[in-house]
Parts: sequence; structure tokens; C-alpha cells
Amino acid sequence: MKPDSTRVLLIGAGRMGGALVSGWRRSQAFDLARLVVRAPHLNEACAEAARAGALVNPEDAALADVGAVVLCVKPQKWREVAPIYEPLLPRDAVIVSVLVGTRAADVGAGFGGRAVARVLPTTAVATASGVTSLYAPDPRAAAAARALFEPVSTVVGLDSEPLMDVAGAVSASGAAYVYAFAKALEEAGAEAGLSAAAARTLARSTVVSAAAYMGQTPAHLEDLIAQVASPGGTTRAALAVLEPALRDALAAAVAAAVRRAEELAG
Ligand SMILES: NC(=O)c1ccc[n+]([C@@H]2O[C@H](COP(=O)([O-])OP(=O)(O)OC[C@H]3O[C@@H](n4cnc5c(N)ncnc54)[C@H](OP(=O)(O)O)[C@@H]3O)[C@@H](O)[C@H]2O)c1
Repeated sequence: MKPDSTRVLLIGAGRMGGALVSGWRRSQAFDLARLVVRAPHLNEACAEAARAGALVNPEDAALADVGAVVLCVKPQKWREVAPIYEPLLPRDAVIVSVLVGTRAADVGAGFGGRAVARVLPTTAVATASGVTSLYAPDPRAAAAARALFEPVSTVVGLDSEPLMDVAGAVSASGAAYVYAFAKALEEAGAEAGLSAAAARTLARSTVVSAAAYMGQTPAHLEDLIAQVASPGGTTRAALAVLEPALRDALAAAVAAAVRRAEELAG
């Protein structure tokens, strides 16, 4: 991709496509006049893109100078979508696939042998604070993916495609694990006698403030734990119960998510 001269085609403006539009606009990742959005139904993401100068559902001719395609439809949909766009794109366009559990080689074959980068972003790309796993053996596709995702997320490059399933299990799914942790902490507080309102505020605020502090300090996690847990104290008593169970539960959860990604890939 020549980032300053070619168009970027976003196919699909749902939850993730919409998050990308917001993130690109906020971060001024590139001039959104170069963005073309294709979406079956006009939604708020399409309106936001149009307000920022993007072309929404233009004539096919507008796709003739697309340099990079961000494929952002459901994994179950892409095989019916690819043949619509493949004949309209320049030969040297690269495909940046956001699809979970869908191999780069399959997407490349569906788009006439074009180079493919795979990315797994989190929806926090909307506020330019996401994290994205990247697998892209082709250097042009890798450069295009980095140009699009580095302005809105921390990009972690992986050198083996199966590791994308593991990265997705840790990161793309991981925000839900944190919410589940906050929910369980809230429930434990209420069961131990706090009012529902107090348990909710204490659990959520604790998770939010601890995560914010972790994001600001270079300290090792062991040191952060030691700052809270003094020997022989109450936190140590809790961690003696929690840590082994949490390690086993997260290892099993990540393995389950990887297995499911492999099933989806077929
Ligand atoms: N959400 C996440 O956290 C996340 C994380 C990592 C990766 N992903 C991946 O991101 C992709 C999109 O997920 P999502 O959560 O954004 O799903 P979504 O909200 O269902 O969005 C998919 C969009 O694709 C549109 N679409 C369907 N057919 C189309 C066509 N022919 N041309 C253009 N657009 C078309 C749909 O439009 P209509 O609804 O109007 O039919 C819908 O807006 C998936 O492959 C998923 O694996 C998502």
C-alpha cells in the first residue's frame, strides 16, 4: 500500500468496523477522504465516516485505486462477500483480514491470490487504545496493516499463524475475562454482606483503578502484588486461595477459546 495515495476499503461497518472508523477519525490515522466504506445497511458508523469525508457505498469505479482492504464481516459471511469485491480491486491491493479463526491462505485464495495480513484487534481501537495481534508473512501486507492499526492500538506481531488463535484467546477475548472477574468480585462482596450498590462500586472501581495503575507503571506484576500483600496479612490469605485456582482456570479458559477458534477454522 502507498499510504498517502491509495484508498482504503472497509468492507463491513458493524461493531468492529464502526470501532475502527471512530479510532481512525480520533487519531487522524489517515485522511478519511481516502476511506471507502461498503455496508448493506447505513448505520451510525457509516454516518460518522461520511461526516469525516469518507465515501459510503459509492459506485464500483471508486474501488479502482484501493490499496488496502480491511475485511470486517463475520467469518461466516466472507466467502459470499469476496467474489463481489475481488474483480473490482487492483491486482496489487492487499487484504487486511479482521476475521477470527480464518486462515490467511484461505482469504488470499478467495481474493485472487492477493497478499493477506491477519489482525485481531480489540474494540478499544474506537478510543485509539486497543491492542492488535498481527500475523503477516507478506511485507507489503504487514506494512499496510501496521499503518492502519498502529495509530489506534498497540500492535503485537506474531511469526506463526496458529499463535493468532492463542493471542485472540488472551487478548481479543481477554477483556471479557476481566469483566467476568469484576462480576465475580462484586458477587463475592455481596455474598459476604455488602449491599449490592456498595459491592458494585467497590468491585468495579478497584478493577478500574488497578488496571489504570498497571498501565502507567513499568513495575513487574509480582512487585505490584507485593505492594498490596504484606507477609502474614489479609491479602496474602486471599491470594493463597485465589492464585492457584485463577492460574488453572485461565489456562483452561485460554485452551477452550483456542479449541473453539480451531473448530471455527474447520
Ligand atoms: N467484535 C470484536 O470484538 C472482534 C474482535 C476481533 C475480531 N473481530 C472480527 O471482526 C469481524 C466483524 O465482527 P463484528 O463484531 O464487527 O460483526 P458485526 O457487528 O456483525 O459486523 C459485520 C458487518 O458486516 C456487514 N456485512 C455483511 N455483508 C456485507 C457485505 N456484503 N458487504 C459489506 N458489509 C457486509 C454487516 O452488515 P449488516 O449487519 O447490515 O448486514 C455488519 O455490519 C468478524 O470477522 C470478527 O471475527 C471482532
